[in-house]
Amino acid sequence: MDSTTIVRTKGERGAMSIMACDSGHNFAQRIVNHLNEILQNEIHSLPLRLIKSEEITFSNGEVKTVIHENIRGDDHYIVQCIDDPLNDKTVNDNLMALLTAINAAFQSDADSITAVIPQFPYSRQERKKTRECITAKQIAQFLEVSGANRVITIDVHSEAIMGFFTTAKLENLHASNFIIKHIKNKYQLQNLVITAADVGGAERARYYSKMLQADLAIVDKARDYSQKSKIKSMRLVGEVKDKNVLIPDDMISTGGTIINASKLLKEKGAKDIIVACSLPFFNGEAVDLLSEAYEEGVISKVIGTDAVFHGEQFVKNTPWYDEVTIAPLFAEVIYNINQKRSVSELLK
Ligand code: R5P
Repeated sequence: MDSTTIVRTKGERGAMSIMACDSGHNFAQRIVNHLNEILQNEIHSLPLRLIKSEEITFSNGEVKTVIHENIRGDDHYIVQCIDDPLNDKTVNDNLMALLTAINAAFQSDADSITAVIPQFPYSRQERKKTRECITAKQIAQFLEVSGANRVITIDVHSEAIMGFFTTAKLENLHASNFIIKHIKNKYQLQNLVITAADVGGAERARYYSKMLQADLAIVDKARDYSQKSKIKSMRLVGEVKDKNVLIPDDMISTGGTIINASKLLKEKGAKDIIVACSLPFFNGEAVDLLSEAYEEGVISKVIGTDAVFHGEQFVKNTPWYDEVTIAPLFAEVIYNINQKRSVSELLK
């Protein structure tokens, strides 16, 4: 046969199967709902449902995952939301549950195992300052050694984490286009300045400023690493007087960064301030502090994604909070991976 007549087939991946750890259940169900919408357009496809599995916690706190269905040969996806505001389990409990789920899938002979973790744990420990652990690298190693071939996350705190994987691939998605669409649909923001809450957020802020055709400013934040979550000083580079401000950040943890940045911007004459983040953790007293900032007129709105799901009641009862769902993006990426189609096309 002439070489030009050879038809290359891509080869099939195994059947797509989706499983959830306990804290990933809500997000996984949203992904499955959207996958079913995609699959509706395909002939011969049956509706997907979550694979039956069980997370068992022993009296000493140890955890194990048992998978109750055959997944041999599957292209298998395990969804876990490590920091879950609706569950008493700690980040470490949920991380360990994920690792047992991955290894259960490995022992069950899935062809490919993808950990779907919208929140990459320990992502702020990606480098060391003194005698410290580079824990984000350890997490990559734990995931690989447990059996993961791929990890899908969103807006990972430091892109250097991609290089911590040796055998697995990291797909880092972005919430920005979903958030920008929400802002354009819901708010008519004129006279806008995009402000990075710290120097690390400058690239993200530049992207928002390009997409929303707005000016750019940066808050230069110095942390006091001798104390937990303590900010030493803040100063503004740029002009916000009489302007509306949008602060895009990757995460809100204690709320300290954005509340302090917003107060500084108000002092400098900013009008309405909207904050947008991919991971609205709201740890510790954050909800009370953000409510206070809203009532004092410091922050007008916080936009977060369902990568950290606070429940329908919270969304309904919290006037300062807008939730944007990014489950459809995860569903499309999972579908394209399973079909061996491009993922980068979805991220444009
Ligand atoms: C910092 O580098 C991050 O992008 C966030 O701004 C920070 O981690 C948020 O933490 P907190 O809400 O506790 O200030």
